[in-house]
Amino acid sequence: MSADNQKRLAAERALTFVTSGMKLGLGTGSTAAHFVAGLGERVRKGHLDVVGVPTSEATHKLAVQHGVPLTTLDETPELDLTVDGADELDGSLRLVKGGGGALLREKIVAAASARMVVIADASKVVERLGAFPLPIEVIPFGQRATAIAIDKAARKLGLDPVLHLRMGAADAPFRTDSGNLIYDCDLSAIPDPEALADALSGIPGVVEHGLFIGLCSAAVIAGADEIRVMGK
Ligand code: 5RP
Repeated sequence: MSADNQKRLAAERALTFVTSGMKLGLGTGSTAAHFVAGLGERVRKGHLDVVGVPTSEATHKLAVQHGVPLTTLDETPELDLTVDGADELDGSLRLVKGGGGALLREKIVAAASARMVVIADASKVVERLGAFPLPIEVIPFGQRATAIAIDKAARKLGLDPVLHLRMGAADAPFRTDSGNLIYDCDLSAIPDPEALADALSGIPGVVEHGLFIGLCSAAVIAGADEIRVMGK
C-alpha cells in the first residue's frame, strides 16, 4: 500500500474521534489534507456539525474548498481537538513538525486544544527523533546572528548541527504564513529533545521550533496491514 493510502486511512480513522459540536484545529500537510477532505464530506452530508481553525493559509483554502465551516482562534480560543500530521514521532509521542513550514500556527493551535491527535503513515514513527532536519522559524531581522546562536546552543548540548536556510520559489528564501524564515537544522539524532527545545526557546529571534513535546496525546498510525493507535 502506498504511503499516501496509509495517510488517508489514518485520517479516516481519526474522523471517528470527531463528534458534532466540536471545535477543531485543522493541521497542515498531505495527511491533514485527507482529514480535511473527509471532514468536509461528512459536513456536506449533514453527518457532522463542526467548526475548524486552519493552521495555515493552504489548509484554510482546502477547508473552504471542501465546505468545512471555519472560525479563527481569536473568535474561538479554546478547541476540543486538533488533528495534524508529523514529520517524525517517537514512542513518547514527541514530534518533529514543520516540514510544510506551518509549525508556528500548528503549535499555537495544538496548545489551544484539549487534545491533539497525530495522523501518520508508519514511516513517520522513529526510535529517536532527528533524522528529519528540525525546522526552526526565525524572524528575518538578524537571521544570521540567530543562526549562529542556534548553532552554538546545539553544540553546547553536544550536537553537531548543519543549518540550511529554507529556500522557496525563484531562489528567494521561503517565507512562512507569518512572514518569517525557516532554518532546517540537520542534527542526525536528537538524544535529549526536551533540552534542545528549552535551549532553542531561549534564543532571541527564534519564533518557534518544530519540537512538539507534551502536546500530542494520541497518534493514529497506518501501516501496510494495520492501523494502530498510540496513546489515548
Ligand atoms: C507541516 C507539518 C506536517 O504535518 C508535516 O510536514 C507532515 O506532512 P505530511 O502529512 O505531508 O507528511 O508539520 O508544517
